[in-house]
Amino acid sequence: MPTQNSSIHGEWSSRLAFILAAAGSAVGLGNIWKFPYMAGENGGGAFVLVYLAFIALFGLPIMMAEVLLGRRGRQSPINTLKSLCQQEQVSKLWSVIGWSGMLAGVLILSYYSVIAGWSLFYVLESAAGGLLAIQEQAAEDLFTNLLSDPVTLVFWHSIFMFMTMVVVARGVSNGLEVAVRFLMPMLFVLILILIAYAISQGGFLQGLQFMFTPDFSKLNGDVLLDAMGQAFFSLSLGMGAIMMYGSYLPQTASISRTTLAVAIADSSVAILAGLAIFPIVFVNNLATAQGPGLIFNTLPLAFGQMPGGIIFGTLFFLLLVFAAWTSSISLIEPAVAWLVETKKQSRLKASIVCGIVTWLIGLGTVLSFNHWDSITLFGKTVFDCLDYLTFNIMLPLGGLLIALFVGWVMREQAVREEINLQQEMVYQVWRVLLKYFTPIGLVVVFLSAIGII
Ligand code: PFF
Repeated sequence: MPTQNSSIHGEWSSRLAFILAAAGSAVGLGNIWKFPYMAGENGGGAFVLVYLAFIALFGLPIMMAEVLLGRRGRQSPINTLKSLCQQEQVSKLWSVIGWSGMLAGVLILSYYSVIAGWSLFYVLESAAGGLLAIQEQAAEDLFTNLLSDPVTLVFWHSIFMFMTMVVVARGVSNGLEVAVRFLMPMLFVLILILIAYAISQGGFLQGLQFMFTPDFSKLNGDVLLDAMGQAFFSLSLGMGAIMMYGSYLPQTASISRTTLAVAIADSSVAILAGLAIFPIVFVNNLATAQGPGLIFNTLPLAFGQMPGGIIFGTLFFLLLVFAAWTSSISLIEPAVAWLVETKKQSRLKASIVCGIVTWLIGLGTVLSFNHWDSITLFGKTVFDCLDYLTFNIMLPLGGLLIALFVGWVMREQAVREEINLQQEMVYQVWRVLLKYFTPIGLVVVFLSAIGII
């Protein structure tokens, strides 16, 4: 039996509310900022194909497992794991899933907030007409100047952190639902407008080709690791965010259908974002492998030229901020919920503590683009290190442990009861994926990335 039927932190009003919140967590900078530049750096088609395969083969089964854990434990990931270990009478060491997840959430948010801050800067820049008729060099200078100015970066990072913590302090289910219900579809429409623009300018076919013609000679261990990280990051998996949201899921909702809906929404936004961006890259003869600056160097060119560009540009960056906002809330929620449960702190106090700690770590990322750009470890700046550690290592490792815990450690009867899949066939496929395919696949990718395979 589940430990309890609802969480002390609240419950979603419906299945749809969960889908919206989970989609809000999944769709974020990862889809619009990170996916295109990862695809660009890793040669396009082959990366995209592997990423989609990983979403289906690793992402979906693990997402179902994560939601299952959350709903069974009904607490923050750390305490959920602790109580499930007790129920299953296994070592408490498995709660490392919760601990590393909480840490990953804080580390990711520390840089996520800085990037969301860039988007905030571009909202104002666009609204003020700063992108009007902007040329390639000027767009590049705008971005480079932003990165070289720590004061401006800290300013926007602070505003974004503040926005996040205000929502978290008020409780996740208040407000989030409304935000996601209206803003996500609007973001979708704006990306479609960008694609229509891209089609009108030419270069669309080239973009399409880049994204969907796989050149398998480009595949190597690092590309696989990046595609795997992208699948986890994009679906918000492996760190307890989806587990936390699962803990608010009503007992009657179907886990398989809800997770499928979230995965489809999430990967469609990523693909569409790519289809909007690469044509602009090709038409303007820009490099595909530009790294984190890709969308900030290319989209202003489109908004600068299209009719109504000020409105569309402002709206686009604003919606990007909203998408980042609904994701960042889920990044910090496990830590806040844990403080509330364990240290008996008020939500407000817990949010302030988490907000300040994360903000401080974020200063490292801010400085890595300017004063500290020569401070590196294995050739990576502070931002690169945080990104690599969380994206390439912590999230997939968290996913691996979740698969092992649900696949091998929990009693099958408990798993069956909670996942409650009506069709036996679907259950069996999921179970085989989770028990064998996913863990082996993840290990193979790790080993190939360090050159052992
Ligand atoms: N999925 C978010 C994005 O694609 O931007 C980022 C994210 C949110 C990652 C929550 C992990 C997480 F737990």
